[in-house]
Amino acid sequence: MPADGMSSLSRGGLTDIQQQARDARVIVIGNEKGGAGKSTVSIHLSVALLCIGRKVGVIDLDVRQRSLTRYLENRTRWMQNTGAKLPMPEIVRVEASQDRDLDKAEAEESQRFLTSLARLKRECDFIIIDAPGGDTFLSRLAHMQADTLITPLNDSFVDFDLLGDVNPQTLDVLRPSFYSEMVWTCRKKKAQTSRRPIDWVVMRNRMSPLAARNKERVGGALENLSRRIGFRLAPGLSERVIYRELFPAGLTLLDLTESSSNVAFTMSHKAARQELRDLLIVLQLPELAGVEITF
Ligand SMILES: Nc1ncnc2c1ncn2[C@@H]1O[C@H](COP(=O)(O)OP(=O)(O)O)[C@@H](O)[C@H]1O
Ligand SMILES: [Mg+2]
Repeated sequence: MPADGMSSLSRGGLTDIQQQARDARVIVIGNEKGGAGKSTVSIHLSVALLCIGRKVGVIDLDVRQRSLTRYLENRTRWMQNTGAKLPMPEIVRVEASQDRDLDKAEAEESQRFLTSLARLKRECDFIIIDAPGGDTFLSRLAHMQADTLITPLNDSFVDFDLLGDVNPQTLDVLRPSFYSEMVWTCRKKKAQTSRRPIDWVVMRNRMSPLAARNKERVGGALENLSRRIGFRLAPGLSERVIYRELFPAGLTLLDLTESSSNVAFTMSHKAARQELRDLLIVLQLPELAGVEITF
């Protein structure tokens, strides 16, 4: 009998072994810059994991914009209006504290976040956290919990600048910048309390077929930086209007079937799905090892 006097079967009907097995992988989608594609990647990755039969919990930490929450509200409304049955993640809101004392506010937010996370970890296979576009206390806390960190990055040196400072001629990395330093700190802190290191994956977003030279230069600089500060590179997503169009209906590329949407499925959408599939493969989530991707 455990020390707390509860039998191993009595906690919410789950055995201790099942609870351990359900120690969900935490995937944080983070980048200090707004507009990099965090919420778009969050919703698509959530639905991708749901499509392959995994239980997914989401935490929208962008308490100002709440794009992911809005996306999922639109999805619920779409289902109500059309009768379509779409996979839905478990959604958790973490409200910002109203306390004017900064220390107390941080303690309160921290407790709210960690309690929600602990509950989702027991109930889900994957937890997707959409981090805010800024260096906030909650964002740092979330990064420290990440098993996988995905950083979407617009294909531009303006966005690259948050990761590293480059020599414009040689594209050598002169020094890591704010966001990389922050991730470095979070990696160190996580290593003190957990044996799961943060697997950091940087993916390019909104890549344009027209800007080939820029694409090549940003790509070269990212390769240099990935070696210098230790992240992996994912091929990323192209610029496609469909990502912007689907928001009001709360749909993703993976929902575009005859029965659940009124959007015609095109070759561009097929290519976009392939990009999502490739992203999932490059993430190398250990929980999906050997699993067939069925979308
Ligand atoms: N691959 C893409 N192609 C076209 N538009 C995109 C793509 N990814 C994101 N967007 C659009 O860019 C804007 C910012 O994306 P969003 O996911 O909200 O970024 P963040 O959450 O990092 O602020 C949104 O209007 C979104 O629809
Ligand atoms: Mg967002």
